[in-house]
Amino acid sequence: MGDLLKLPYDDSTFDVAWCANASAYLTDDQCWQMLRELKRVVRPGGLVAIKEYDATGCQYQPCPPTLWLRFFEAFSRSSNPQLASINRDTRLGEWLRAVGLVDTCQRPTLMVRFQPLRDVERQFNSRSIALEGWARRRV
Ligand SMILES: C[S@@+](CC[C@H](N)C(=O)[O-])C[C@H]1O[C@@H](n2cnc3c(N)ncnc32)[C@H](O)[C@@H]1O
Repeated sequence: MGDLLKLPYDDSTFDVAWCANASAYLTDDQCWQMLRELKRVVRPGGLVAIKEYDATGCQYQPCPPTLWLRFFEAFSRSSNPQLASINRDTRLGEWLRAVGLVDTCQRPTLMVRFQPLRDVERQFNSRSIALEGWARRRV
């Protein structure tokens, strides 16, 4: 679709704009810019839809249930803005309204995986942890 911070489309081009799993990689300022851009390219009355990961509900059993909360809390204090943005999801609704979007709603989807993990789940978790550099970080 192009750079989320400078979408190559005229104002009010689309009925719907959909953005999945990208806002978490942006700094706060970039995220505000992305929201303004999504609003700009969607016609009045159209739909801006954002799917994002909410780390606040994360658990990896059999880890102690508070371990990951402490982990993500540490991220939120990181000087790396892209790590610090990991908990932003809880504020996105407020930000959507602040850029002038109306009739906003948030719809949580709970994903649950129980031990013993299937191979595909274990591979997914391993890759996610490696990709994010989580394994190199400690609470
Ligand atoms: C975790 S991937 C998600 C990919 C895909 N949307 C999905 O849900 O499977 C994060 C994506 O955000 C994209 N991204 C990060 N900053 C961006 C920007 N400024 N403009 C457009 N895409 C960006 C990256 O290129 C990457 O593909």
